[in-house]
Amino acid sequence: MTITALETIERPKATATMRAVVFHGVNDICIDEVPRPRPSAGEAVIRITLTTICGTDLHIVRGEYPVRQGLVIGHEPVGVIHELGPGVTGYSVGDRVLVGAITPCGQCSACLSGQLSQCGHGHDYEAIGGWRFGNTIDGAQAEYLLVPHAQANLAKIPEGVGDDEVVLLADIASTGFSGAESGGVRIGDSVVVFAQGPIGICASIGAKLMGAALVIGVDGDDDRIAMARRMGVDVVLDYRKDDIVAEIQRLTSRGVDVAIEALGAQSTFESALRSLRPGGTLSSLGVYSGKLQVPYDAFAAGLGDHRIVTTLCPGGKERMRRLIEMVRCGRIDLRPLLTHRFSLDDIGSAYKLFGERREGVMKVAITP
Ligand SMILES: NC(=O)c1ccc[n+]([C@@H]2O[C@H](COP(=O)([O-])OP(=O)(O)OC[C@H]3O[C@@H](n4cnc5c(N)ncnc54)[C@H](O)[C@@H]3O)[C@@H](O)[C@H]2O)c1
Ligand SMILES: [Zn+2]
Ligand SMILES: [Zn+2]
Repeated sequence: MTITALETIERPKATATMRAVVFHGVNDICIDEVPRPRPSAGEAVIRITLTTICGTDLHIVRGEYPVRQGLVIGHEPVGVIHELGPGVTGYSVGDRVLVGAITPCGQCSACLSGQLSQCGHGHDYEAIGGWRFGNTIDGAQAEYLLVPHAQANLAKIPEGVGDDEVVLLADIASTGFSGAESGGVRIGDSVVVFAQGPIGICASIGAKLMGAALVIGVDGDDDRIAMARRMGVDVVLDYRKDDIVAEIQRLTSRGVDVAIEALGAQSTFESALRSLRPGGTLSSLGVYSGKLQVPYDAFAAGLGDHRIVTTLCPGGKERMRRLIEMVRCGRIDLRPLLTHRFSLDDIGSAYKLFGERREGVMKVAITP
């Protein structure tokens, strides 16, 4: 990956600029000086105070998820309102806000039907349409960020709640928790979560919050196994050593009520299905590539009353408000997952460390 330091580009003096992480091509991101956005009607500009890097950003940088050249990447913003466009009410310049990774418009058919993540860019549904930052519009790894549909997406951060307590709510906590929510975890359930990366650990925490009696995590990385234990996962199985499906059957005597897939691979999808009791639910969070197959026997030939559900990270200000409330009331503390800190200028090192998963890195805090 090539990271070039601050580029100096000749621009008209009247245009205020900002530093931003710009995608130039596969394995080529730069910290460029780019025009600072200005809000139009219904939009806001926030000054970013904290952001982070997502596994999806790695997919983008590696060229595994295509985005256009010149795009500012990143989708996990915490900041302060810098400028409000006409028509955004109830907010003031200077308010501290969290914005979800997914920014629903609140007006289209999908939004008004409650499927905010599939918010369309016109008036209808669009698969993954709600994911805009660092995908279809400029993202959060920058000094300033233009927030679309600001009225639906700015969640105020209460006094006494720190940026580092909320930055992981924008994406990984919202996604992870949704794995448990979509799986319909009930009080007394046994739940297995395949993979204990940031998403899987949040899914495990979400299963506990939903009332699971037993949460089993599966991973094969010593640092991740240790972190899963630290974050309260009851039993962590090591796929390098254990026969996972047999061990889950032994621990639960009949299979789990809910299996959450948090990696995006055929093998874990299949093991999740094989871990279920009859009538159980496979809640899938992973992003897959290639072909995904459902084996006949694990699927009980289609007669097992299984449910398979998928979820894209829920966004919007009400989702963020609820997650912030969990922090404010002391029900969750995700700060241990922020293992490393970098300045925006040093984000190249952060991408390298995060991408190579060295030094027990889970998530990196990036400060502009
Ligand atoms: N649904 C959504 O909205 C959404 C949002 C963000 C990310 N994701 C997806 O969630 C998945 C997980 O993201 P992440 O950032 O936590 O990933 P990550 O790469 O940081 O972690 C993956 C973990 O899987 C473990 N692993 C590898 N092989 C395994 C196996 N066979 N069994 C069990 N564990 C195994 C690794 O050791 C690692 O700890 C990715 O597919 C990502 O694209 C989905
Ligand atoms: Zn993400
Ligand atoms: Zn919408």
